[in-house]
Amino acid sequence: MKHTVAPRVTKLLAADAAGIAEAAHVLQAGGLVALPTETVYGLACDATDPHAVASLYAAKGRPSFNPLIAHVPDIDAARLVGRLTPAAETLARRFWPGPLTLVVPAIESATSELARAGLSSVAIRVPAHPVAQAVLRAAGRPIAAPSANRSGHVSPTSAEHVLADLDGRIDLILDAGASAVGVESTILDCTGEVPVMLRPGGLPREVIEEALGTPLASPAPRVIAEAEAGEAPLAPGMLASHYAPAIPVRLGAREVKPGEALLTFAHAQPPGAEAAVARLDLSPSGDLVEAAANLFAHLRALDASGARGIAVVPLPRHGLGEAIADRLRRAAAPR
Ligand code: TXA
Ligand code: MG
Repeated sequence: MKHTVAPRVTKLLAADAAGIAEAAHVLQAGGLVALPTETVYGLACDATDPHAVASLYAAKGRPSFNPLIAHVPDIDAARLVGRLTPAAETLARRFWPGPLTLVVPAIESATSELARAGLSSVAIRVPAHPVAQAVLRAAGRPIAAPSANRSGHVSPTSAEHVLADLDGRIDLILDAGASAVGVESTILDCTGEVPVMLRPGGLPREVIEEALGTPLASPAPRVIAEAEAGEAPLAPGMLASHYAPAIPVRLGAREVKPGEALLTFAHAQPPGAEAAVARLDLSPSGDLVEAAANLFAHLRALDASGARGIAVVPLPRHGLGEAIADRLRRAAAPR
């Protein structure tokens, strides 16, 4: 079924003091604002306002069972939104602000039920980006912010990407240049005794495990299967086909087939590379941090190259390689 969304005039503003003040006003009035964060651009709205949340789901074309992250400026504001368990407390003190989202028991009056998709837990994030920080402080309330793309599309790491997906569907875009991290936050479920990694992301597993002194748990296979079948709301961001370019993505490619575009790392030269329709390297120097920052922009560019598919060379799995592999697996999933 096609959703019809009431058209809006989308303003594009620089993320200066005036832009930030206007963004806070629009949010307080129930509007939709695309904001830069250090991970990706988020589509922000007042998390306490069910009408605003409903219009955000509509603008993204997102299934409404998919819960949203509540963004707050600091740990004190987080305590008003959820009950920080001991593990959450440790992680929050160590890694906030930063690319880490913690799922904890919700203080249910603090965010709208629609933003939580009816769950009794809430995902909380304290972004480090100075513009996100300034808007959150000026808005003075928890802000729901999924990535600012149409549901199922690649996440935006620039204001241009947001405009390409959401022009005419949202009120305002604050432009602060490219996102530094380039993949979404790592999500940990801290409702139990041992934190469970729900989504690998901008904060690498190794760094978190070092801080906790214990390995992170993984979700039970049954939970993943239900999430991928769209049956369970535990972490619907784990839907198999997410972050999808329009053309097929082929992983672990050891050669380039006729008509394919090529995504490489560290100057890899697979056979057929010279004949690729288009070619981009995630990090010529072999740096996974740079690779994460380039991932979504490169996928978008190759998607638009006229190729019939995208061949991706094998990539390292350590550090941010885990989040990169996760996003690429979803980009390649059949739909
Ligand atoms: O880096 C990020 O996290 C970006 C920026 C904008 O902050 N936001 C982002 O939001 O990636 P989104 O909506 O694209 O992903 C949020 C993920 C979804 O997979 C959702 O299922 C999960 O968080 N989530 C939200 N609340 C949850 C909860 N209570 N329990 C489990 N998962 C939850
Ligand atoms: Mg997203």
